[in-house]
Amino acid sequence: MKKILIMAGLAVGLFALVAASYDAFLEMGEKTVPSSQCNKCHKAIYADWAKDFHSKAFVNDPFKKASNAYSRQECLACHTAQEIAQEDALKLRPVHKEEGVNCTTCHLRNNMIYGPYKLVAKHKSEQDESMLKSAFCSGCHMPTYQEWQASGSQKQCQECHMPRAEGKLVTVFPLSALAPKRMVGQHLQMSEGLIKGAATITGQKGTGSVTISLTNTGAGHTMPTGKYGDYRMVLTTKVLDSGGQEVVSKEEVFSSQKDNGVPFNKTVKYSYPIPPGVGKDYKVKATLAYQVSGRPDMLVASWNAE
Ligand code: HEC
Ligand code: HEC
Ligand code: HEC
Ligand code: HEC
Ligand code: HEC
Repeated sequence: MKKILIMAGLAVGLFALVAASYDAFLEMGEKTVPSSQCNKCHKAIYADWAKDFHSKAFVNDPFKKASNAYSRQECLACHTAQEIAQEDALKLRPVHKEEGVNCTTCHLRNNMIYGPYKLVAKHKSEQDESMLKSAFCSGCHMPTYQEWQASGSQKQCQECHMPRAEGKLVTVFPLSALAPKRMVGQHLQMSEGLIKGAATITGQKGTGSVTISLTNTGAGHTMPTGKYGDYRMVLTTKVLDSGGQEVVSKEEVFSSQKDNGVPFNKTVKYSYPIPPGVGKDYKVKATLAYQVSGRPDMLVASWNAE
């Protein structure tokens, strides 16, 4: 009896969802729907996006300041873009600007919702396999895209920034009960795991000097990358003598604004002199920190030697 009731409830719920028309989702310009509409069914993807910096592209403090409190129109065309386009053809979305780069920016074009699959959704949709390729990101990320092309990386942007895992596209009952399992791309583009896999540090202790090597092992572009933001990797090396006194303290700053980052698969080396008298009996602690203003620093890699 209970089972029958559940089945009946499911059928009614499904009917309501099937019966509704979702053609309003295909409207653009002033009528573009907000991402909260997509959240009614794609809850897990929405939750990722809500933590992702694309959803902060308009509201974040660095952007608010640098765009003179949103008065520079040329910045808005990208930070709150209506749709994917090449850099010079980007146009701003006139509504829901606070959502920055939102669901409709990446998925809605020509009054159609595009996805990587060929599915029958509640709303109209068409397949666009280019969504799985780096070129899809290039209109807004051209400098990084060019670094990626030159890097020889075998992975597309999406393979690192939107890794796929088994899940459901629709995570809201009752639709979720019928939705098959598929591969779903993570919509949180900068995860802690990704940053921690960016680089490795090794070193060599000598009598008169210590050498530190830093390799970009995980970022398929210059590390750090970016044209507009101020992203930094800071390599700090400290040497302590046998008595625990700090005898060397050095810092190398790699910054997207200075354009002095480390290319993919490349190693940079630094040799620091050890003061005479310290001998070979010293400790080294080298760390690499990821720094973006307004966010907590993150430890990427370290190398310690006794
Ligand atoms: C419509 C333009 C647009 C498109 C398309 C786009 N991005 Fe972005 N992306 C931005 C903007 C603007 C920011 C800056 C967000 C902010 O203010 O922090 C950004 C930031 C990022 C960041 C850095 C987040 C951070 O830590 O600050 C990553 C990583 C990223 N994008 C990856 C991608 C990838 C991968 C693709 C393609 C699948 C893509 N983006 C497509 C505009 C875009
Ligand atoms: C920066 C661009 C970007 C934004 C913003 C974005 N998506 Fe996506 N989306 C993609 C890309 C690229 C793929 C293909 C990823 C894959 O399958 O590996 C994708 C895939 C999907 C899929 C198909 C499942 C999958 O992962 O292949 C759904 C459904 C989806 N997105 C919904 C949304 C919703 C809902 C939002 C807003 C909460 C959103 N997307 C925001 C770029 C974006
Ligand atoms: C009423 C529920 C519902 C809402 C609301 C909804 N979707 Fe969907 N969507 C679906 C279903 C169902 C599928 C197909 C799921 C499956 O077969 O795994 C789908 C599939 C998709 C796909 C993949 C299409 C493909 O063939 O690759 C994308 C992209 C997508 N939706 C984007 C969006 C966006 C953007 C919004 C908001 C404007 C949105 N959806 C709102 C139910 C919904
Ligand atoms: C091999 C994996 C990999 C590929 C491929 C890749 N990235 Fe990254 N990306 C990373 C890692 C790791 C970081 C964090 C380290 C760093 O700062 O460079 C990062 C950082 C970023 C950032 C934030 C700025 C920064 O340097 O911290 C942006 C923006 C970005 N990637 C965009 C892209 C775009 C666009 C593509 C494709 C053209 C792409 N990435 C391809 C791994 C990758
Ligand atoms: C073609 C697209 C595009 C245009 C136009 C653009 N940006 Fe951005 N912006 C990005 C992308 C992509 C990122 C993240 C990676 C990077 O810096 O390349 C970003 C990041 C930023 C950040 C860092 C945000 C953070 O989280 O720290 C600031 C600040 C910023 N942009 C300001 C501006 C200003 C000011 C303008 C106008 C003069 C502008 N942007 C124009 C694409 C764009």
